[in-house]
Order: sequence, then structure tokens, then C-alpha cells
Amino acid sequence: GTGKFFVGGNWKCNGTKDSITKLVSDLNSATLEPDVDVIVAPPFVYIDQVKNSITPRIEIASQNSWTGKGGAFTGEISVEQLKDIGCKWVILGHSERRHVIGEDDQFIGKKAAYALSEGLGVIACIGELLQEREAGKTFDVCFQQLKAYADAVPSWDNIVIAYEPVWAIGTGKVATPQQAQEVHVACRDWLKKNVSAEVASKTRIIYGGSVNGGNCAELAKQEDIDGFLVGGASLKGPEFATIVNSVI
Ligand code: G3H
Repeated sequence: GTGKFFVGGNWKCNGTKDSITKLVSDLNSATLEPDVDVIVAPPFVYIDQVKNSITPRIEIASQNSWTGKGGAFTGEISVEQLKDIGCKWVILGHSERRHVIGEDDQFIGKKAAYALSEGLGVIACIGELLQEREAGKTFDVCFQQLKAYADAVPSWDNIVIAYEPVWAIGTGKVATPQQAQEVHVACRDWLKKNVSAEVASKTRIIYGGSVNGGNCAELAKQEDIDGFLVGGASLKGPEFATIVNSVI
């Protein structure tokens, strides 16, 4: 793998004050391998609760951020506000934001550039739809999404790429270790050709899509899988800890 193993728990739009109190307490009592960056991304409204109760061993990400400074943008949350309540990271370009909410590459690139300029780390998501995979367009789609980030950001120092094939998200249909590895290698190669050899060798590329306690170990063995972005299984403390501890 490349760099420190990185495991993010994306809680998506799940949880209540009570269920999150329980999840945080389970995470606080879990044994986590030291050599792993561990991040959780609660819904905005619970970030403050989580930040105030979770072990400092685990950092907080938001699931979105606005493209610039706050102001008259009803319903949006600014990067400055996220930093103010202790976020260190933001997940951008998630497939649910692309395909359910309709965010496009340019909008996502703008958000990434602004978040980075303010010092947040960006978990930059990419990934193809099932019909794109079946049409043999997986690499094209991933490269186009990578290019949108590359065109927008001045530096890759604070970016982790999350490859999440859309057909594997929330479906229980995980990519095989070989399928994931193949795309990770292709993305690394794209970075080498289009950004720099240094960025290609240093940027962590994590996998997301139906990762769970049972399949994480095989995926983690792949040379170019540098961690995971976990949805459903991150809502269960002990299982999330198992995934964190799948680091080789
Ligand atoms: O951000 C996480 C991914 O969308 C994966 O979700 O683990 O529920 O498939 P999932």
C-alpha cells in the first residue's frame, strides 16, 4: 500500500442522538490498530455531539461542504463552520451527491479546491455506474472525474481518493479484490501521467462499496488498496473496528 492505511466511516443520513451516543461509545471502547488514520463522517447536525464525545484518536469529516465562504446560501454549510466545530476532513463527490442530488464534476471540483484552500482534507470520491462498467467505460469515467479534481486543485497533498463503484454501494455486491485493484492501479497510472510521479506514489486510494467485516481482509491485501470508505458497516462499532484493523 501507499502511505498510512485510511479508513473512513460514512454514516450518511443515518442516526439519532441516542443511536449515535451508543455508536460513539462502542468506537471509544474498541481497540484500533495504531497505524491507521480513522475518520467518521456523521450527519451535519450530529457533528458537534460526536466531536465532543469521541476519542481524539478518531477524526471527524463532514459529508459535504459549500463552494466558498458562507453568506446568503440557504441550507448550505461552510468550510469555516466545519472547521469551527472541529472537522478535519470533508467527503466530496460521493455518488449519492452526483447521481441522486445531481452535482457535477465542476461543482465538486470547486468545493474541493475551496476546502483544501481552507485546510480541510478532502476525501475525493469517484466511480462508475453499472451501465458504464458494462459498456467498458469504467476507466474513462474514473479518469474524467479525476481530471475534474486535478483541474481544480492546486495540490494533492491533502487528498485521499475514494474509488466507489456505484453498483457496489449499499448493494451488498462488493467489487472483487481484483476488480478494485485494477481500477486503483489505473487511477495511480493516470495520476502519474497527468499530475506527477510523486503524487501518484504518495496519494492514498481507498475502496468503498459494501465493505464489511467479512470481506475487508482480502481487499486490504491488494497492493494498491490503501484503506476503505465504509457506509453501512460503519454504523456498527465492532464491525467498523474489524475493518480498521484489517490493515496489513
Ligand atoms: O461512502 C461509503 C460508500 O458509499 C459505501 O457504502 O458500505 O453502505 O456500500 P456501503
